[in-house]
Amino acid sequence: MYLKISKFVAFLTLLSIFTTNSVFAQKRSSADTERKINALIAKMTLAEKLGQLQQIDGDFPTGAARPEQFEMVRKGTLGSTLNVRGAKNVNELQRAAMESRLKIPHLFAFDVIHGYRTIFPVPLGEAASFDLKAAELSAYIAAKESRAAGVAWTFAPMVDIARDPRWGRIVEGAGEDTYLGSQFAWARVRGFQGTDYSQPDRVLACAKHWVAYGAAQAGRDYSTTDISENTLYNVYFPPFKAAKDAGVDTFMSSFNDLNGIPASANRWTLTEVLRNQWKFDGFVVSDYTSVMELIPHGFAKDEADAAQLALNAGVDMEMVSRFYNQNGEQLLKNKKLTVATIDEAVRRILRVKYRLGLFDKPYIDESLEAKTLLTPEHRKAAREIAAKSFVLLKNDNQTLPLRKNIKELAIIGGLADSKEDVLGSWNGDGKVPDAVTLLEGVKNKLGNNTKIRYVKGCDAKCEDTSEFDKAVDAAKDSDFTILVVGESAAMSGEASSRSNIDLPGRQLDLIKAVAATKKPYAVVLMNGRPLTINWVAENSPAILETWFAGTEAGNAIADVLFGDANPGGKLPVTFPRSVGQIPIFYNMMNTGRPFDASNKYSSKYLDIANTPLYPFGYGLSYTSFALSNIRLSSTQIAPNGSLNVSVDVHNTGSREGAEVVQLYIRDLVGSVTRPVKELKGFERVELRAGEKRTVTFTLKPEQLGFYNAQNKFVVEPGDFKVWVGQSSVDGLESSFTVK
Ligand code: BGC
Repeated sequence: MYLKISKFVAFLTLLSIFTTNSVFAQKRSSADTERKINALIAKMTLAEKLGQLQQIDGDFPTGAARPEQFEMVRKGTLGSTLNVRGAKNVNELQRAAMESRLKIPHLFAFDVIHGYRTIFPVPLGEAASFDLKAAELSAYIAAKESRAAGVAWTFAPMVDIARDPRWGRIVEGAGEDTYLGSQFAWARVRGFQGTDYSQPDRVLACAKHWVAYGAAQAGRDYSTTDISENTLYNVYFPPFKAAKDAGVDTFMSSFNDLNGIPASANRWTLTEVLRNQWKFDGFVVSDYTSVMELIPHGFAKDEADAAQLALNAGVDMEMVSRFYNQNGEQLLKNKKLTVATIDEAVRRILRVKYRLGLFDKPYIDESLEAKTLLTPEHRKAAREIAAKSFVLLKNDNQTLPLRKNIKELAIIGGLADSKEDVLGSWNGDGKVPDAVTLLEGVKNKLGNNTKIRYVKGCDAKCEDTSEFDKAVDAAKDSDFTILVVGESAAMSGEASSRSNIDLPGRQLDLIKAVAATKKPYAVVLMNGRPLTINWVAENSPAILETWFAGTEAGNAIADVLFGDANPGGKLPVTFPRSVGQIPIFYNMMNTGRPFDASNKYSSKYLDIANTPLYPFGYGLSYTSFALSNIRLSSTQIAPNGSLNVSVDVHNTGSREGAEVVQLYIRDLVGSVTRPVKELKGFERVELRAGEKRTVTFTLKPEQLGFYNAQNKFVVEPGDFKVWVGQSSVDGLESSFTVK
């Protein structure tokens, strides 16, 4: 099955090699386009200009545009909508745009976060695959389906670093780590956009939420963030920069207050960093009503003030609220806004519309949509990528995989048969009936040879225990039990923060009741964030983390439970033992009093271990791997030099499997203190039983440097440690010096 994915990817790579040069030439040789844009701007009335800066919401359930939108578009006073989708709906509204005076094409946006119709694992789950080709492929398929349905612009990828699992939106990103997050940001942008997003199978991407939204205080959504500039440069900016380097042409300004200046009115991040330092020439869209929210933030005194603050700071397009349009004229009169500022925002938006090819080809080929959505090929990719995202957290005495000739099997848990939940939050245009549940997947796998006893036990909230006895009886009567527990999809995602990240309700009691039967069982988790599952980790024989795995969830889970696929995912985020440990992440600073069990006055708690329940980068396999023979191409390099680190990886078990080989460094002394470990390379290696291969990483200045106190990127001379391991807490060690 992996072979097939790689063929598809090889095809993609070929395609991008083929298109890269011509496209970048085309994108950058834009003098002609710039001339056209300026000529167009010269013809535009103020109302038409402000219209280009406006985005409003279509009807989410049907994907249709509202009557008002037709009117505005026809008048040339609405540049973009979100949620209007479906080739027919899109063409209808586009026809109105073509009837407008200047025929500026309309831009259709939608949240395509982990799939359009074919739903892939939630982004946090997909990050657990540590497989960038998988991320690129899922984004490519999502793009292909979206564009066929008329959506030209996705509000993805979300590249917020998230180190607080109480925050529900941790599910939408790549987890806690800046390097992993940057790699996934690059891969996802490339998957969506390719090297030319005017192509009919690509969409424009949007790096969100700029910036630091994931650092919401106490994990409460929309909450304040207060982060030093240096930490922004070293931790929170890099995934956005990676997205920019991959060619992303839009950013979304976030809801949060950042160091006292709300991110949607923050001239430093929006103009100084984005436009001036990074030379970003695309445009910024506000998050939903974040321009309006400048008022409750206590930053803008009224609507006009909010509009001028956001637009002057560098928010080019306003989503949903209409303050730019309602106040633009007055603000110009009062000299709170200049025509040049408005023109610059319009220019950026038109530039991206040109790059999308919308001026040449505003309409969608309506015959493509049905042929493109949810094809067997897309489902197949979704199944393979889902299997790659699962993390085997525990597997005592090879409890898993299960034999396919098992006679009687109990499956317990509401999540085991919920089509809705496996689709996760932000499931695009995914349809509930398309989804395959765990129960269905196991039935598909085993046919009629096994007697399956399904008992719900309780739903994800698990307030009602009346079915517990029935669940226990099913476990008693069966040879093996699969217990499916975790969160409903709605428990993570936007506005879904939790103060307690235990298994909800009485789920743990259900597990304990089944465990008390002394019959063998395995726990399958579905959830959008790390959970504090200490009892389960200690007492249950096997635990498989499956996140929310998408349309093909059930088939993929059955593939792994019954050994047709071998789990190889690793945690992209630390699992704490207790909410009290949060924030807990592997690449913390050492402190002046690092943890020392024998020293009361060291950095620790009195009542709990300092270690997490499961560390970043952790995950097991049905086979075993050994790393050996770490070697460096050199032990001394110049600050602008690079270095190879090699290691042999050996599949020492009896079945084929994947190991994610991880490279970490520590810069021992810095002009700004450096973390105790930092991921700087990884490779997911597929090995047959007994196979041995050498993996080589190259450490370059990009990986060795950091932003110093002046926020300049530097590689400082000094000693480094390097580890190559199977998680963030093990590994072969070596060292080198930058001279
Ligand atoms: C979310 C964004 C999303 C937007 C449009 C907002 O509430 O924060 O991530 O893209 O809505 O749906």
